[in-house]
Amino acid sequence: QFPMPIPPVKSPAMTITNPVTGGPIDYYEVYINHFQQQIYPNKGPADMVGYDGIAPGPTFLIEKGRESVVRFVNNATMATSVHLHGSYSRAPWDGWAEDVTTSGQFKDYYYPNSQSARFQWYHDHAIDHTAENAYFGQAGGYIIHDPAEDALNLPSGYGIYDIPLILSAKQYKSNGKLFSPASETDSLYGDVIHVNGQPWPFFNVQPRKYRLRFLDASISRTFRLYFQRSTGSTAKIPFQVIASDAGLLTGPVTTDNLYISMAERYEVVFDFSTFAGQNITLRNYEDVGQDDDYLHTDKVMRFVVSSTPVTDTSVVPTALATVDFPTPAGPTVDHHFEFERTNGEWRINDIGFADVANRVLANVPRGTVELWELENSSGGWSHPIHIHLVDFKVLSRQNGRGNTVYAYESQGLKDVVWLGPGETVKVEAHYAPWDGVYMFHCHNLIHEDHEMMAAFNVTKLLD
Ligand code: C2O
Ligand code: CU
Repeated sequence: QFPMPIPPVKSPAMTITNPVTGGPIDYYEVYINHFQQQIYPNKGPADMVGYDGIAPGPTFLIEKGRESVVRFVNNATMATSVHLHGSYSRAPWDGWAEDVTTSGQFKDYYYPNSQSARFQWYHDHAIDHTAENAYFGQAGGYIIHDPAEDALNLPSGYGIYDIPLILSAKQYKSNGKLFSPASETDSLYGDVIHVNGQPWPFFNVQPRKYRLRFLDASISRTFRLYFQRSTGSTAKIPFQVIASDAGLLTGPVTTDNLYISMAERYEVVFDFSTFAGQNITLRNYEDVGQDDDYLHTDKVMRFVVSSTPVTDTSVVPTALATVDFPTPAGPTVDHHFEFERTNGEWRINDIGFADVANRVLANVPRGTVELWELENSSGGWSHPIHIHLVDFKVLSRQNGRGNTVYAYESQGLKDVVWLGPGETVKVEAHYAPWDGVYMFHCHNLIHEDHEMMAAFNVTKLLD
């Protein structure tokens, strides 16, 4: 077992002035580079491609309201497109799949950063190749921080008591290189679980509270996480979920297990104070959806708790944030989407993304609240559905997992919702602030690359 790395913080190359507002814009440069990563000490290195030549890429720490421009320079051989997942970026900088930057080119992306504090992430979105590109390393964290959060006195300090845990699952060949998902058409669940790029790592902690920011950056694997002592009692240890995709929940939700599917983010506070001198294992259920289990996919990582007592003044307040839930639109479903498998292809309402003439499946007047019903009609498969631009409220879940909307899903806003086998979920969102054509799709990236993606057009308001 090796220690868990913490992705380094990205620094701006310079600060420029917004010519319109006079405010500062931080300018960053990221290089998409080929590199090698030694995963198995006794085998060859794995060939990877990542942001600044590391995987996960560097973490952006952004103050809410401070704009940024990021130049992504493509020094790699493949075409790339960068999506900042969780940001209401304007359409030209949203990582549209066909808006690719080819080898040797660069593109400057502008981000407003004015949403609620949240754990966003940036990843590749290139047409037909998103799964390989994300899997071989093009993914990283982008955290928006709001000073209002500091007043809560949650455990804080990036890499100190506020820790990103970027999960992924991959598969290696006997020569130490990665097995590629390029020719897969269904899923690649992966038998090797990584946290921040390191398989089954350990992390040294103090006996106190930590804020753990989970992101499932796997291309096909959904996790159902729980904590357990590494030896002795096998009881699941409760923890508090404090935030999801769009930031803080209204209040903490106590649970002893947590579903997290691809591209979802959940932040939890785990209190190690009663485990001084012990080891805690972060584990994964078996039989999650219909994902394949392998020998060690029921384990994720280990926390090694120091025996030296520390003072911990951080708290988890009972009220965390005022969440900007959309004004209810009423019971009428505005759009119904079926996620299905037809003629060996993954489709939405029987349309694949390659069907250019028909792939805009909804026109939504800007500024309206709409209720969308997402139905998984593909049999035993699961599909985490991501809608670009908006944050939505998960209203209901039918069939599948006991008609349950988990409190940690509904007490905050989301941009991805997991449709487990057979499930139908209703989500409500305020389609704002911009107009433009945006994507929505399954975040099993192999499904996305094989046509389970479409677009919606947020149309201008007419006077
Ligand atoms: Cu995280 Cu359209 O993607
Ligand atoms: Cu899918």
